Amino acid sequence: MALLPILRYPDPRLHTKAAPVSVVDDAIRTLVADMAETMYEAPGIGLAATQVNVHKRIIAIDISEDKSQLQVFINPEILTHDGECESEEGCLSVPGIYERVRRNHRVRVRALNLDGQVFETEAEGLLAVCLQHEIDHLEGIVFVEHLSRLKRFRIKSKLAKQARITA
Ligand code: NI
Repeated sequence: MALLPILRYPDPRLHTKAAPVSVVDDAIRTLVADMAETMYEAPGIGLAATQVNVHKRIIAIDISEDKSQLQVFINPEILTHDGECESEEGCLSVPGIYERVRRNHRVRVRALNLDGQVFETEAEGLLAVCLQHEIDHLEGIVFVEHLSRLKRFRIKSKLAKQARITA
């Protein structure tokens, strides 16, 4: 397994639309293992392949307290969504920034598992928010793009300042 470098907003590669996975093979399983290791190490509760500069429709999520419940969604699709919620989100590609975002409270998602089999799951609350956030990444959307232009501008300046300090 290997830790993968995470792209940082406003890296333009974060705006790439990911392509569907055609075959779930060992190369995909290795990538997922690397993504999971990268997510746990960061640490974060979700990671999309887009964030490690692999433009394939794969996401890894683990919202459990003890980080023991990895959930993998390959070619995820939102089938239905309802309800509204607003919660504070962060992102490994936007370090140190937390902002409230409106999302659907409940989603039903269809995806492939690591064996290439189709499954469907219904999620609500944190898992539903996390799925919407990660599926956005596969579309090339970073959560700050749900915020006002002014907020986004402030975030960009803050991140540029951080980059200068850590450089
Ligand atoms: Ni993110």
